[in-house]
Amino acid sequence: TKARISIDREAVVAPIDRRIFGSFVEHLGRCVYDGIYEPGHPTANEDGFRLDVVELVRELGSSTIRYPGGNFVSGFRWEDSVGPRDQRPVRRDLAWHSIETNQVGVDEFARWLKLTGSELMMAVNLGTRGIEAALDLLEYCNHPSGTALSDQRIANGTVEPHDIKMWCLGNEMDGPWQTGYMTAEDYGKIAARTAQAMKAADKTLELVVCGSSSSSMPTFGDWERTVLEQAYEHVDFISCHAYYQERGGDLASYLASSLDMQYFIETVVATADHVGNKLKSSKKIKLSFDEWNIWYLDEHRESEEVNDEWRIAPRQLEDVYSVADAVVLGNLLITLLKNHDRVASASLAQLVNVIAPIMTEPGGDAWRQTTFFPFSVTSRLAKGEIVKPRIDVGTYETAVYGAAPLVDSVVTTDGSNSAVFLVNRSQTESIEVQIAVSELGATSIDEAVTVWDDDVYAKNTLADQNRVGLKQLEGAALADGVVTVTLPPVSWSALALS
Ligand code: AHR
Repeated sequence: TKARISIDREAVVAPIDRRIFGSFVEHLGRCVYDGIYEPGHPTANEDGFRLDVVELVRELGSSTIRYPGGNFVSGFRWEDSVGPRDQRPVRRDLAWHSIETNQVGVDEFARWLKLTGSELMMAVNLGTRGIEAALDLLEYCNHPSGTALSDQRIANGTVEPHDIKMWCLGNEMDGPWQTGYMTAEDYGKIAARTAQAMKAADKTLELVVCGSSSSSMPTFGDWERTVLEQAYEHVDFISCHAYYQERGGDLASYLASSLDMQYFIETVVATADHVGNKLKSSKKIKLSFDEWNIWYLDEHRESEEVNDEWRIAPRQLEDVYSVADAVVLGNLLITLLKNHDRVASASLAQLVNVIAPIMTEPGGDAWRQTTFFPFSVTSRLAKGEIVKPRIDVGTYETAVYGAAPLVDSVVTTDGSNSAVFLVNRSQTESIEVQIAVSELGATSIDEAVTVWDDDVYAKNTLADQNRVGLKQLEGAALADGVVTVTLPPVSWSALALS
């Protein structure tokens, strides 16, 4: 099988905003406690943060990090999470049925972000709280000094304001599982009023209103329309959340998951523009794809025991990812980049231990899951602008999506350095791809790497942490302005060109 890719240098989607490489840390399971934070660990710093994890987060190359939830935020009392640690209350977290010790809070997390070189994206609680708590948190975090809450932050040891630009107005308020969930009408009203008040404090904030928890929600589409009819002029982003998994052994459909993500994005863009046009607004709402990943949710639902115990940082949602999962994740990231003109920000959910690219063992190692690799390589190589290539390739049949293209790809370039990201979705065929790169001015291949394995279900585990890694993509060649590469079956690959 063969494929041809042509590149029109003028077909620019958007300049790259690093926020597309965001991630997510929620107070859930072992993401924070025994994940990024473990005071007794040999690599822990004075705050109790594991520096081996910090190093992996830097290597992953995630930018903005959403915090503190997720479903957790709908019960979050931010005041509990600041001030002297020994005076912080211990609370029940109803979202994940666990005990929250509040030993990590807003100020510690901001310090951890500095170590990792990332930026904070904060969520406010619109499930059990409202406008006043949101305004208080904003004052605590962002006001320089001289007010009750900014002075409290300073007294707590953080002199400089956190200066958080991006704020989520609650989380998944369309989901019956959400503490305090609402109808679209009710949520649209509270989101509009909260946004209006927060912007009265600082009009430069970028606010994210909750969209749908998934494209399979019964309210999908109607939710976005109703919420935006209320909140359009007050917000900047609408959120999208999507998780994928292989179901019933249908690997063919699973490998084409990014077709669902594409449909999701197009539907939300169309709905947002419909509302904007109806309101005669000159503003375009951007998409914040602030939860996306692979999640074996069906299996978690089936295995969920009735659990009356209240535990601190229990092992929850600790999916172990395969090569096939890494290929799908790489493809989802290609899809986000291809839509970067409207998807201006995205967060891989989540970062450590909980459906995460990085795993840790208490007192022991931290290691990379298979999904770590496509994310870290894309984040490192993608520079400048995104260019949407034209791909001529055959299709294969899937039960869920019908005919799906065998190859997907996206290109980035800053004029001197370019990158091509590719997936081969075929389970049986290697595909030779010819990529016409003369419009990129590329004359050499600096790097050619791939994630693939004879066993598509190979995984990295505590016992075998390096079973899957990046391999060289053998045989990649550039001659007469054409790169020729052979993509192995079920693979994700990247080429760096200059
Ligand atoms: O990322 C895990 C959970 O998935 C989040 O808490 C929630 O927002 C979503 O349902």
